[in-house]
Amino acid sequence: MASILHIDSSPRGDRSKSRKLAKEFIAAWQDLHPDDVITYRDLRQTPVPHVTEDWIAASFTAPEALTSEMAELLKFSDALVDEFLAADRCIFSVPMYNFSIPSNFKAYIDQVVRVGRTFMEENGQVKGLANGKKLLFITSRGVEFEAGSPYKGWDSQEPALRYAFQYMGVTDIQFIHANGLDLGDEARKRGLDEAQSKIQKLVNDW
Ligand SMILES: Cc1cc2nc3c(=O)[nH]c(=O)nc-3n(C[C@H](O)[C@H](O)[C@H](O)COP(=O)(O)O)c2cc1C
Repeated sequence: MASILHIDSSPRGDRSKSRKLAKEFIAAWQDLHPDDVITYRDLRQTPVPHVTEDWIAASFTAPEALTSEMAELLKFSDALVDEFLAADRCIFSVPMYNFSIPSNFKAYIDQVVRVGRTFMEENGQVKGLANGKKLLFITSRGVEFEAGSPYKGWDSQEPALRYAFQYMGVTDIQFIHANGLDLGDEARKRGLDEAQSKIQKLVNDW
């Protein structure tokens, strides 16, 4: 029995393609692994606050030196970190915004990349502490990025996600991108069909 963390981040509800694809993955996964425990977080319903100067000071304070105000400031971040660390596998759905990630998912990352919790410094080197889990990002994009596209090479989303989680020690990271979703019916169908067939394949191999 594995523990799965599923997070949706699109500000859109039922119209969101990334949510729909992640839902399909989860449904297919549950059919194969009915005993797995799924924890769901919706960044649309429970927004993640941006970090502040006081939050940063608290996050770099040793646990034994935290004042009660500092501990209170870190409470939500601690809950997000606990939830992330407890998961064996994570499925995160993330739309592309301005060639990168939406600010709510960036705020989530800023709250979980925590010294002493998800990474530490040792002999001048950073060591990730969130080892051993598998991570799947399902992304949705309006345009396409393959050869011939004016946006080839513009994808700052995958690196932004990959490096933040690699920094925390996650090495098994996969991406399923649904591209071209805002380029008309034909391109949208192609982008969704391709993503759905990758989902069906990965559900069996993950
Ligand atoms: C504010 C905003 C910025 C966007 N920026 C990009 C972009 O840089 N590149 C891209 O391919 N699509 C971009 N899109 C299109 C979305 O990625 C696309 O519509 C996707 O399906 C949104 O995910 P969702 O359906 O899960 O909400 C943007 C959409 C919005 C609303």
